[in-house]
Amino acid sequence: MESTELARKFTSMFGGQPAIFSAPGRVNLIGEHTDYNDGFVMPSAIGMRTAVAISRSSEAKLRIHSQDFRQSFEFDSDNLPQQATGAWCDYVLGIAVALQQSGHAPKGANLFVQSEIPIGAGLSSSAAIEVASALALLSLNNASLPLEEVARLCQRTENTFIGARVGIMDQFVSCLGKAGHALLLDCRSLDFEFIPIPGTVKLVICNTMVKHQHAGGEYNRRREECEEGVRILSKWYPGIRALRDISIDQLVQHSQDIPPTIYKRCRHVVEENRRVRDAAACLRAGDLNGFGRLMRESHRSLRDLYEVSCRELDIMAEVAEGIPGYYGGRMTGGGFGGCTLNLVAAKNATAFAEQISSRYQQAVGIKPAVYICSADDGARLESSART
Ligand code: GLA
Repeated sequence: MESTELARKFTSMFGGQPAIFSAPGRVNLIGEHTDYNDGFVMPSAIGMRTAVAISRSSEAKLRIHSQDFRQSFEFDSDNLPQQATGAWCDYVLGIAVALQQSGHAPKGANLFVQSEIPIGAGLSSSAAIEVASALALLSLNNASLPLEEVARLCQRTENTFIGARVGIMDQFVSCLGKAGHALLLDCRSLDFEFIPIPGTVKLVICNTMVKHQHAGGEYNRRREECEEGVRILSKWYPGIRALRDISIDQLVQHSQDIPPTIYKRCRHVVEENRRVRDAAACLRAGDLNGFGRLMRESHRSLRDLYEVSCRELDIMAEVAEGIPGYYGGRMTGGGFGGCTLNLVAAKNATAFAEQISSRYQQAVGIKPAVYICSADDGARLESSART
C-alpha cells in the first residue's frame, strides 16, 4: 500500500500531515470454529492490508472518511453514539467508543481509511479496520497498549458494538502476525508460537465470490449449539468450561446422550483441536503432505459435521484435487461462502491459480478471484506524521 499517495489524499481532504497505520487481513490454515470454544487456531496474516491515516483535530469531532465507499461521517466526540449506526463507519466508531470508555480516546480526530482487503470474502476486513483504527486513535493520545490488549479490545467491540459474537482469532493475528510464519494460538491462555512456513510453498486463496445471507445468524447458532453441548456434557464432567476441555473418548462415550446435531458440532470442534496440534507438528517437521491431509479432513468435517460449508466452497475444494503442486486445502473462515485456502508448491502457484480458476468457472459459472499470498506481518506504523 502506497503511504505517500494515502497521505496526499488525506491532506487534500483534511489538511495537515497524517500518521498512517495499517493492519492486515488473515487466512486461517487450520482450526476453524475452535476459537470461541477456547481451542486452538493457526492463522497467518496476509499481504492485503487496511490503512488508516490520522491526525488530531482542534474541534471535538470524530471525522471518518472511506476511500473505498467514498463516504464521510462526522460525530461529536463528546457525544459519540453508543450504538451501531448500521454503516461501515461502525468499525471505527465502535473502537473510538471503546477507547473513550477506557480513557484512551483523543478529543478530536480525522481519519481516512483505505483498504485492499475484499469485503465479505472471509479474509477479516473487519478485524483489519478495527485494529488499524485502534492503533491510530491510541497514537494521538501517545497511549500504547500491548498488542494482545488491542486484539481483545477489538474483539470486544465486534461482540458488543457490532453485535457479531466472533472469537479472538482474527483480531489477534491481525495484531501479531509475522511474515513467513503461521501463528499457533491457544485461544484460552492466548499463549502463541510462530511456526515457519517453508519458502517453497504459497498460500493460494480462492474466492468463490459468494457470500450467503444467513451466514451471521448461522454463526451465532453454531456458538449456541457448542454451548449447549458443554451444558449437557457437564452433567458427567462438572469441571468443564468449554469444548476445549473434552477429549474425543469422553465425547464418544456420551454419543447417545446428546442430540445428534449437537453431537456433530461437538465432534467437529474436539477433533479440529486435535488436527491443529497435529498440523503444527507436521509444519515443524516440514511435512507438507501431512499438513495437506489434515486440511482436507478439516474441510470434510466443516462440511459434514459442522455444516458451515456450501456448494461453491465444496466445488472449489474438489476442483483443486489433481492440480500439480497442490498439497491440500480447505474452506477458511466462518463459512457459507468466502474463500478456500490451498497449500501449493511455490513453483506451481501461478499455473495452479489459472487451472483452479477455469475449473471453478466451468463448474459454477462464476469467475473466482485467486490471490497468491505469503504470510505477512501484523499491524504496524507505516509512517509518522511529518511536522
Ligand atoms: C470468523 C470469526 C472468527 C472464527 C472464524 C471461524 O472468522 O471472526 O473468530 O470464529 O469465523 O473459525
